[in-house]
Amino acid sequence: MDSGGLRILGIETSCDETAAAVVHRAPDGVGTILSDVVLTQLDLHAAFGGVVPELAARSHVSTLDRLVIQALEDSDVPLNEIDAIAVTSGPGLIGGLMVGLMTGKAIAMAMAKPFMGINHLEGHALTARLTDKVAFPYLLLLVSGGHTQIVLVKGVGDYERWGTTIDDALGEAFDKTAKLLGLGYPGGPMVEQAALAGTPGRFRLPVPMRRDPRLDFSFSGLKTAVRQMAEAEAPLSQQAIADLCLAFQVSVTASLDDRISMALERFSARFGTEARPALVVAGGVAANTAIRTTLEHRAASAGFRFIAPPLNLCTDNAAMIAWAGAERMAAGMPFDALDLAPRSRWPLDQTATALIGHGKRGAKA
Ligand code: KG4
Ligand code: ZN
Repeated sequence: MDSGGLRILGIETSCDETAAAVVHRAPDGVGTILSDVVLTQLDLHAAFGGVVPELAARSHVSTLDRLVIQALEDSDVPLNEIDAIAVTSGPGLIGGLMVGLMTGKAIAMAMAKPFMGINHLEGHALTARLTDKVAFPYLLLLVSGGHTQIVLVKGVGDYERWGTTIDDALGEAFDKTAKLLGLGYPGGPMVEQAALAGTPGRFRLPVPMRRDPRLDFSFSGLKTAVRQMAEAEAPLSQQAIADLCLAFQVSVTASLDDRISMALERFSARFGTEARPALVVAGGVAANTAIRTTLEHRAASAGFRFIAPPLNLCTDNAAMIAWAGAERMAAGMPFDALDLAPRSRWPLDQTATALIGHGKRGAKA
């Protein structure tokens, strides 16, 4: 292994994945994941149809030590050769954040290593530089169970939030729609699967926020519209469920397409497209084929590259936290003191106006 560059241990416990990873960043900026261990709590929460914060925190406590040891073993980097510890310190569920922070701080203190509290959203935002060496500036669409944001990524620690959800996150809307139609959890894959058998045009739903210049999102009205249609159709046949799933998916896809097409126009007006800038998508909802394909076409027709990191790096993981730590350290940003407090809400863009709302998977920030 080269002696230059940075080797960072990352820890992620902000929601329902317990994760630890070791990432190397070479002096030329090339990143390598040396280990990446993720334990999902999906089964723990499935019966409740959503994440139960107290159960999540208890599970992090009982599994994190083991995962950190495994990540170090898998990486073949002895703990004393780790250059710094990077831990998600927000936004997210406060109990889980505390578990990760206490563990990371204890390691940093015992080993006399630098410690960094990382914004979870910064982890998502910078992943495309780890996987695809994407140059600044680029546009990020983050669509997960807890977040729905359009972010201009200008540099490490330099973000402009162009849009966010004013109510539900998109993954949350998929999950709630699935629940009200009697499908399982997590709802996104269930809705997508059911929609395959749907009849196009049988139900029509509005496209939220169409052409609204604020670039924000709204999904809770759709969920209500689906509920009303479902009640009017009750008892629901399998076909009616499929038709409603398709109508929901068509509507949210059109809304994302509309918001992103405006964002790409705004980006092009400001930076041009000669350098073929990138549209990056991240988050669990990016697994949806209809959404992905639509965004891919939109990016291509606007002169953008379309980048979707592999799914395991789109969803929550600790490699992205270690990488964000490496990028910050390489940029000479300061370390954090060991009394750093967790933040359940922590917008990536400190200047963005706060919007109300707190999803079941944590702060929408
Ligand atoms: O990024 P993620 O794994 O976890 C966090 O929210 O942090 O995202 C999970 C969300 C869930 O709401 C899930 O229903 C949604 O992503 N999801 C999907 C699909 N796969 C996962 N939504 C739509 N279509 C999918 N295929
Ligand atoms: Zn996330």
